[in-house]
Amino acid sequence: MTSIRVHRLRKSFGKLLAVDDLSFTVPEGTITAFLGPNGAGKTTTLRMLLGLVRPTSGEAVLGGVPYHELDRPLERVGAVLEATSFHPGLTAATHLEAVRIAAGLPAARVARVLEQVGLEAAAHRRVGGFSLGMRQRLALATALLGEPDTLILDEPANGLDPAGMRWLRGFLRAYAHEGHTVLISTHVLAEVEQIADHVVIIAAGRLRWSGPLAGAGLEDLYLEVAG
Ligand SMILES: Nc1ncnc2c1ncn2[C@@H]1O[C@H](COP(=O)(O)OP(=O)(O)OP(=O)(O)O)[C@@H](O)[C@H]1O
Ligand SMILES: [Mg+2]
Repeated sequence: MTSIRVHRLRKSFGKLLAVDDLSFTVPEGTITAFLGPNGAGKTTTLRMLLGLVRPTSGEAVLGGVPYHELDRPLERVGAVLEATSFHPGLTAATHLEAVRIAAGLPAARVARVLEQVGLEAAAHRRVGGFSLGMRQRLALATALLGEPDTLILDEPANGLDPAGMRWLRGFLRAYAHEGHTVLISTHVLAEVEQIADHVVIIAAGRLRWSGPLAGAGLEDLYLEVAG
């Protein structure tokens, strides 16, 4: 199991303090919604967790260690990041195959993840011609390749059609039910309200609220603490 922990995390870009003394943990086996206004610091925090942005101070760790110290990271943590780019000339299947080979994963994984995200019919089309939702599905498929026990998702439903959203909700619910852990950022509160156990709300880089989501209206809570 791979817990997620952010402790006194700080990131400045020049004079801008994008993440300011942020601490929270994501309990194993739960879905935690990571919310906050545009520019609040969500993507920066998730990128620090994934080792793509270096913290100014503090720590962002997975299973107690920074991402780059994970052994076989694709089998521990799957990630969907904002504005994921793929090589436009590759087909979906070729992209997945390249990642699979680099990570030393079994050959059957490619077909499996294409099926999971409903991209089988587009498997041999070039990614350059993919719609936003198809790219998002491919990003999810890539995240699932290593059968990770933890998912870090930055606005994964962006561009998904209603059927895709429903699939994602069902998938994440089942995934967490198996004891896996999900940290998901989104602006679509209705999307996470149905599946999240915990909520972390930030604004201007600082923690505003963190705790269990106990039925009460998420939108009211959000607008009260961050709006
Ligand atoms: N590479 C960078 N250089 C300079 N400033 C940056 C950089 N990345 C992020 N920022 C700034 O840090 C702040 C937080 O941005 P971030 O993308 O983390 O917000 P967010 O919560 O993900 O917002 P959104 O909901 O719009 O995706 C913003 O003010 C942004 O302009
Ligand atoms: Mg963002």
